[in-house]
Amino acid sequence: MAKSSAKKAVSQISSGKIKSAVTKKDESPFTTDANLSLQDLFIGELRDTYWAEKHLVNAIPKMVDAAGADNLKEALADHLEVTKTHVSRLEKIFQLLGEKTIAKKCDAMEGLTMSGEHVIENTITDTEIRDIGIIMSALKVENFEITTYKGMIQVAHSLGKEDVADLLQQNHDEEIEASNILTEMSQSITENQPAQ
Ligand SMILES: [Fe+2]
Ligand SMILES: [Fe+2]
Repeated sequence: MAKSSAKKAVSQISSGKIKSAVTKKDESPFTTDANLSLQDLFIGELRDTYWAEKHLVNAIPKMVDAAGADNLKEALADHLEVTKTHVSRLEKIFQLLGEKTIAKKCDAMEGLTMSGEHVIENTITDTEIRDIGIIMSALKVENFEITTYKGMIQVAHSLGKEDVADLLQQNHDEEIEASNILTEMSQSITENQPAQ
């Protein structure tokens, strides 16, 4: 979908122009009792993301311990502190919206961190192969977070919640920063690998 038509669709949903297509159960081709407003959808995403960030606060230390290179350990440890800030910003958003702070399990993030654990289990301590595997896993996490925040920022703007969008933007920008650092690290390690 082109950027402008996607933007138009979000604004149509938020303005109620195509609300009937998603809220009138009788007319829906779906058999679920789903009846979410854009605000409900946003709160659901917020709970999901809150769970994901808190989960990462527990998962990143395992990656720090498993990493071999000092600069990788350092980058991951730095991002752990940044991730704690992300949790705090999301808590602030719950407050701003007058919502209870609730975490809803994010299956996607659980899967991503689980596959990172498998990489650690299947590689040898203090090897570049393990470090490359850890970076690849961390990049998947960062890119998932970037995409999540991009969508949430768009919806927050549509809901007219500029203060919320601002906080999400800060998290988003820090995920981009982490992704850039990890990408550079991955390039420099993989360049040193002999061709097989
Ligand atoms: Fe984060
Ligand atoms: Fe992150």
